[in-house]
Amino acid sequence: MLGTAKQPRRERKLEHFYRKAKELKLRSRAAFKLKQLDNRYNMLRRGDVVVDLGAAPGGWLQVAREKVGREGAVLGVDLQPIAKLPHENVKTLVADITDPSVPDLIRQNLPRQADVVLSDASPKISGVWSVDHIRSIDLARAALAIAERVLTPGGKLLVKVFQGELFEKIVGEARERFELVKVSKPLASRKGSAEVYVIAKGFKTTQKSS
Ligand SMILES: C[S@@+](CC[C@H](N)C(=O)[O-])C[C@H]1O[C@@H](n2cnc3c(N)ncnc32)[C@H](O)[C@@H]1O
Repeated sequence: MLGTAKQPRRERKLEHFYRKAKELKLRSRAAFKLKQLDNRYNMLRRGDVVVDLGAAPGGWLQVAREKVGREGAVLGVDLQPIAKLPHENVKTLVADITDPSVPDLIRQNLPRQADVVLSDASPKISGVWSVDHIRSIDLARAALAIAERVLTPGGKLLVKVFQGELFEKIVGEARERFELVKVSKPLASRKGSAEVYVIAKGFKTTQKSS
């Protein structure tokens, strides 16, 4: 009985974010995850250049554009095409973020080195926890590699990871490259899901960016 009493409350919360996203004309419920993480960790500022990996259908792009304003620039990358947003400074690319040629492609499409790299990229869920975990780690590693190539010194990274045995390893890899690393789960995430977000600030080097 307790289990069935809990379930509707969690569903109500997700339903609430879903309805609110519709009301605010946001393309995804996921947009609230970025809003919540940004409120807490101050990831996005007016004028920033932002790269959003795994960006379709574009909810995070909308939130990022709202924060950076007309002065900034936002570039979304996804395997899926993203319907155009009505802002000149939001561009999108169809590409696989694990492809080694993609960091150069991203750099060619930025006005300057990026201030922030976001990644909400998710593998297709197989339902097998360990498989989904490994695929998510591969995507998080690709996001880290892209961040190393496109971020300005002091830049920030926010990346989704599914928890599992390699989780601490990827957090350690982020710690080698950034001054400050934290892990957070926003309210708008499903409670039972394995997803958490790694927040990394203070990118340490420009060595790999030339
Ligand atoms: C949860 S959705 C992102 C939602 C998005 N943040 C929003 O608010 O609209 C995850 C996305 O990751 C993308 N993705 C998964 N693997 C990818 C890859 N290797 N390269 C690029 N995008 C990928 C999927 O196509 C999917 O659109």
